[in-house]
Amino acid sequence: MMSSENRSQFSVSCSSVSEKARAKINLALHVTGQRPDGYHLLDMLVTFADHGDRLDFMRSPADAFTLSGRFGEVLAGDGGTNLVLKARDLLRGAIGPLAFPVSIHLEKNLPVASGIGGGSADAAATLRGLMRLWGTTLSAETLAALALKLGADVPMCLESRPLIARGIGEELEPVPELPAFAMVLANPLKGVSTPEVFRRLATKNNPALSLTPSRPQAADWLAAIAATRNDLEPPARELVPEIAAMAAMLQARGALLTRMSGSGATCFGIFASMTSAEDAAAALHDARSDWYFQATETVSGGA
Ligand code: C5P
Repeated sequence: MMSSENRSQFSVSCSSVSEKARAKINLALHVTGQRPDGYHLLDMLVTFADHGDRLDFMRSPADAFTLSGRFGEVLAGDGGTNLVLKARDLLRGAIGPLAFPVSIHLEKNLPVASGIGGGSADAAATLRGLMRLWGTTLSAETLAALALKLGADVPMCLESRPLIARGIGEELEPVPELPAFAMVLANPLKGVSTPEVFRRLATKNNPALSLTPSRPQAADWLAAIAATRNDLEPPARELVPEIAAMAAMLQARGALLTRMSGSGATCFGIFASMTSAEDAAAALHDARSDWYFQATETVSGGA
């Protein structure tokens, strides 16, 4: 018996589906307070990149999980703690016996523990993909609650479109006016502990994001974003000196704006065009082939 809270609707299921898990980019991240349980209150302007992981889901005689991609090896040894498997199990628990065994393949293209929500995007893509494979939909509230259980960034990754997120990331407001940006993502392939970055924050009651009510026009977005902050960047720079080096490298290659995403260490540079972003990524890769540089376009709010 399913409880009324978990009531789901079933339709015809398919035998295989694929989902994209887009990288999450925090264009701005303001820490505005802290809840009694220790979680920090945030005001974030978030967008999503074309670049990301890819997940394939197939009906199978037994549950299985395989990995490939540049960063697949990194996850291979985590012994079932992967958020993809947690998302599968949580969704199966919510929908019951009609959730047949599945084979899941994760092509891991995004660096792990890097502030661009790779794990959260994978978890969200798993919820989306398995609902399609199992031919079920949950109510928006049940799905949002499941997503939040998996991590503070999972609800926004379910949306994967430009938005403002508040609270700990669960209060979402779409930003249809946000344009697409040509971007280079840069990471020194040094994982950062999110709790450690939060612990090092000097101030937790910082000014809120002030993009509304006077939302800028497309041409003004860059200036508006430049006037915002990532409050996690100073403590992350203390932990990872490479962040300052990457920001300087992106600027030297023509980035109009550089900033760190999430709790780092990934930094993004916004470029004038995809051609200049691709040229910069190629030159940066030549300079530091042991680091990660990826040119990508972000999704526009109106898409
Ligand atoms: O929810 P998620 O797994 O992404 O959070 C990882 C850790 O980061 C939390 O356990 C918490 O220590 C810290 N965190 C926080 N405030 C947030 C989000 C995360 O303090 N809003």
